[in-house]
Amino acid sequence: MGDWTTIDWDALDRLRNTFIHRKSPSATPYWTSESDLASYDMTFAERIGWKWDAVLSHLKTLGWEPSTKYVLDWGCGTAIASRRVLSTFPHHAWTSLTLWDHSTLAIQYAQRVLRSDFPNLNIEISSSSIPQNWQNQQGLLLVSHVLNELTPSSRSELIQLARQAQTILWIEPGTYNDSRSLISLREELSEDFTILAPCTHNATCGLLTEGNERHWCHHFAKPPTEAFTESYWAKFGKRMDIDLRHLPYSFLVLERKNDSPSPLTNFSRIIGAPRQYKGFAKILSCQESGVREIELQKRDNPKLWKELRKGRAGTLHEWEISNARIIGSTSPPPR
Ligand SMILES: C[S@@+](CC[C@H](N)C(=O)[O-])C[C@H]1O[C@@H](n2cnc3c(N)ncnc32)[C@H](O)[C@@H]1O
Repeated sequence: MGDWTTIDWDALDRLRNTFIHRKSPSATPYWTSESDLASYDMTFAERIGWKWDAVLSHLKTLGWEPSTKYVLDWGCGTAIASRRVLSTFPHHAWTSLTLWDHSTLAIQYAQRVLRSDFPNLNIEISSSSIPQNWQNQQGLLLVSHVLNELTPSSRSELIQLARQAQTILWIEPGTYNDSRSLISLREELSEDFTILAPCTHNATCGLLTEGNERHWCHHFAKPPTEAFTESYWAKFGKRMDIDLRHLPYSFLVLERKNDSPSPLTNFSRIIGAPRQYKGFAKILSCQESGVREIELQKRDNPKLWKELRKGRAGTLHEWEISNARIIGSTSPPPR
């Protein structure tokens, strides 16, 4: 945890402006100083870290573990993605972590923080967008909140790199545009990879079918208690005009294709949050057969209705359906 008294609020205003109002991708880095990065790291990056916590915790409940020792954090910024992954799997025998960002300032900052947090880790700095040591490594590629900053040629490079990964963990903001960009990417990579999450299947994304144009694939992370109890977070939320309770994200977890079928094919994934009405809820449900809205009447299953309303039911369900309505659900057993 950094020191909030040193936060450069003007830098955060400028960064927020850049993130929100950027009209087109820029090939020029926007980090101007160490203070930009330190202030970002304590605030925006920490919120991104909460999204990583949500995804990694979900993967753990599915029994997922890293299957490679080599990690690449691409567009690393302050390396929040790799720090979260390494600390979630501290006993994994990581061999090395490579950092790439088109900002040298960012790479230097990331390297310093990682050295302090993981003194025994071998950290390598890539001198180009396609690290020399990446090919044949079959490594774990981490990408976080980068896609909407890429020019078409950088995006192509990143996809070329992604095709050589063993595993890809990719998190983006939960906006319509970011989710739709991630869906395009999913379709480009699905021939070579098994999709472990959020999809429960490898069929074409159901949001691409006619009638689903208005939807996007997003989920909600739970901020930690400190986000609501610490005055510095309140100040951050107010000044940046961010509702801290609301933490939407889009994500993809891909594993190089093997012969085993997706372990979740019988399950559906809830997209977004169920929409609650008086006495019933509408749930946007994604499964191999497509994405469709299904209704749950409170009277059909008051317990499930309540769990969903309180956000305690999880997002994976094997629905029990009667008369086109949900009447029950089974969740996958924790592994
Ligand atoms: C919003 S920040 C996210 C940083 C970090 N991944 C995180 O989740 O906090 C986007 C990062 O992508 C980097 N970036 C943008 N375009 C890039 C490119 N073409 N090649 C490498 N890095 C790029 C920026 O310098 C910045 O550090």
